[in-house]
Amino acid sequence: MMTKLFLLFPVLVVSFACFVLSDFSISSEEEVFQVWQKEQGREYGNPEEKAKRFQIFQRNLRYINEMNAKRKSPMQYRLGLNKFADMTPEEFQKTHLKELEIPSNLDHVKVQDDECENLPDSVDWREKGAVTEVRDQGECQSHWAFAVTGAIEGINKIVTGNLVILSAQELVDCDPASNGCAGGYYFNAFGWVIDNGGIDTEANYPYIAQNGTCKKNASKVVSIDNLLVVDGSEEALLCRVSKQPVSVSIDATGLQFYTGGIYGGENCSKNSRYATLVCLIVGYGSVGGEDYWIVKNSWGKKWGENGYLLIKRNVSDEWPYGVCAINALPGYPIKEVSSSSPQLSSI
Ligand SMILES: *[C@@H]1O[C@H](CO)[C@@H](O)[C@H](O)[C@H]1NC(C)=O
Ligand SMILES: *[C@@H]1O[C@H](CO)[C@@H](O)[C@H](O)[C@H]1NC(C)=O
Ligand SMILES: *[C@@H]1O[C@H](CO)[C@@H](O)[C@H](O)[C@H]1NC(C)=O
Ligand SMILES: *[C@@H]1O[C@H](CO)[C@@H](O)[C@H](O)[C@H]1NC(C)=O
Repeated sequence: MMTKLFLLFPVLVVSFACFVLSDFSISSEEEVFQVWQKEQGREYGNPEEKAKRFQIFQRNLRYINEMNAKRKSPMQYRLGLNKFADMTPEEFQKTHLKELEIPSNLDHVKVQDDECENLPDSVDWREKGAVTEVRDQGECQSHWAFAVTGAIEGINKIVTGNLVILSAQELVDCDPASNGCAGGYYFNAFGWVIDNGGIDTEANYPYIAQNGTCKKNASKVVSIDNLLVVDGSEEALLCRVSKQPVSVSIDATGLQFYTGGIYGGENCSKNSRYATLVCLIVGYGSVGGEDYWIVKNSWGKKWGENGYLLIKRNVSDEWPYGVCAINALPGYPIKEVSSSSPQLSSI
């Protein structure tokens, strides 16, 4: 991870130079907008819409410059002109940050108090081949479904040796306790997979980024046996992440323009009952004395560090549930070795 972060530095310098230039005059902001539009393949239906989007873009560009200018170390998170750069924070909120309905009664959920000795200094499940490609949820708030398929993909690879991309669409279409593209929470979706006896593959049941009709004839390719919840302590979460990828929820309000570095929770809520995004911890590490989680998101590879977020861990009591309440309610699937589906051998 260290080397990867260092490799990013030349890119950083270039983007800094670019932002500084853009501050000189309106015409250079126009140029930045044009370059960005080309990069993103973004076109607008009419000149009015383009003018409106340019205004929003300008505001965002200035905000991004202002925030980046306050950075105190090269490791600290940076904002950039990503694919959300022509959206107002309000628009972004409406399309990406619906408040999650966290179940208030968790009595039926089994809580596991993990303890580990001699934890490795860093873990990255991507390097162990247990993480599939970053996906793009599109205009559908299905992050919860991708966080669930991601966790099942991880444990399935760890237990059976097979990495299979699973169907988030099946969860969007079929889990009646979640709200499809209107959002959901991971408890229900894991429960649905357990009760259904398995979940189909992405190849069989592809993602369409909208509510669909549940295909009752879907195959049960990968099954899980149980869902457990981490007891809320960071030690227990670290221990579990050393064993498998874990689904978590955070408030992602500060992440619209995130393009990399270690996010320290700027602009997000500390409230353990307020979350707007479900995502997947796939590892942890440290660089320059800063400890972080590696988090897989479902906003495409053009967001964050190729689709990933590094978020600070091991922080002060100022964050009773970790940065953006990431420690509040982590959950993960259990898969017994004996339950490996025989259908897997045919894939
Ligand atoms: C998708 O379905 C959910 C209910 O499952 C509903 O609340 C939501 O409005 C639907 N979204 C669209 C875009 O139809
Ligand atoms: C499953 O049902 C859908 C319609 O809901 C159909 O289009 C599809 O061909 C069926 N697939 C199989 C494998 O039977
Ligand atoms: C985020 O927080 C910083 C201070 O930490 C503040 O300057 C900035 O305006 C905030 N951004 C938003 C969108 O509220
Ligand atoms: C947390 O940070 C302290 C130093 O502030 C360090 O000694 C400790 O090893 C860190 N813990 C973990 C689990 O990384």
